[in-house]
Amino acid sequence: MSLTEHPLILAIESSCDDTSAAVLKGTQVLSNCIATQKMHARYGGVVPELASRAHQQHIVTVVKAALDTANIAKKDLSAIAFTKGPGLLGSLLVGVSFAKSLAQALHIPLIEVNHMQAHILAHFIDDAHPNPPSFPFLALTVSGGHTQIVQVNAPDAFVLLGQTLDDAIGECFDKSAKVLGFSYPGGPHIDQLAQMGNPNAFELSIPSVAGLNFSYSGLKTQFSQLVRKHNLKNPDFVSENKNDLAASLQHTLVSSLVLKALKALEQTGIRQLALGGGVAANSGLRAALRSVAQEKGFDIFIPELRYCTDNAAMIGISAYFKYLKADFSDLSVNAQARYSVQL
Ligand code: KG4
Ligand code: ZN
Repeated sequence: MSLTEHPLILAIESSCDDTSAAVLKGTQVLSNCIATQKMHARYGGVVPELASRAHQQHIVTVVKAALDTANIAKKDLSAIAFTKGPGLLGSLLVGVSFAKSLAQALHIPLIEVNHMQAHILAHFIDDAHPNPPSFPFLALTVSGGHTQIVQVNAPDAFVLLGQTLDDAIGECFDKSAKVLGFSYPGGPHIDQLAQMGNPNAFELSIPSVAGLNFSYSGLKTQFSQLVRKHNLKNPDFVSENKNDLAASLQHTLVSSLVLKALKALEQTGIRQLALGGGVAANSGLRAALRSVAQEKGFDIFIPELRYCTDNAAMIGISAYFKYLKADFSDLSVNAQARYSVQL
């Protein structure tokens, strides 16, 4: 089989509650289609059983939309890429099975991708940035499922420097927003309210964890206890203090990330920090990192928002790097719910 320099890769992402398919030509995104599952909102979080069923319902339509938008016929594809993990097993299985069948039917290579590596490699998509980071750089990946600091030495060389010991930062945003009465995902609600609030109105403790690790379950509990305590005295406490509560929480969460990012930069001597994951959408975090980068003299990379949240284009760019090395999977490959960024 001859490999081309600008492969046409169809990528599929189904690790959590977004069914996404993208077509890339080399590093250029031709399409990036996403069906987001709305039904989880009423349960306050992603329900795995419902998620996998919805992936099954959406996958054919989403893949077809990606091919149509890119104006590419299946027969012209060079490879099929999919998310192997980490994620919800039932959700991953839908993407893996679909990708395997399609690759087999089209007689083209199959490429497995690690979702956490993909959040990082999203920085190399053509229209993610005017200039991507250069190797080595540090990546701060913050999402509903993960909080990690990774040293990225090459597209296939990742060193996990630190991660959360319990809840992910996105979960802390989401569960705290639920305490304030907001539906899942709550992060964007907190972000919006925080812009109108006083970040110093309520005192919350920045989690204290050794090294470059994180922890958010204590802060999540502290926040809900604070709300409960005040609610007992004043039933209107939340409605009267929503903005200040959100601003104080966000300020504490953002400060915890900034502190660890600075520590990692200092420890490694690296001067480039690349942000990724759904929480990278947070306006307070983006502003804080930009300002501290200017103050301390390091480069900060924040990709276009559509490449921060879960999307198949990031799976496609990761597969592109593997395609160049002919790093293909055989049909025995399977989904892996727990799958480290450092392989
Ligand atoms: O990467 P992502 O789309 O999915 C995974 O978890 O892998 O991240 C979703 C997370 C949710 O926790 C959501 O609340 C959070 O990203 N999020 C935000 C904002 N937008 C999305 N958190 C804070 N501020 C935001 N603006
Ligand atoms: Zn993700």
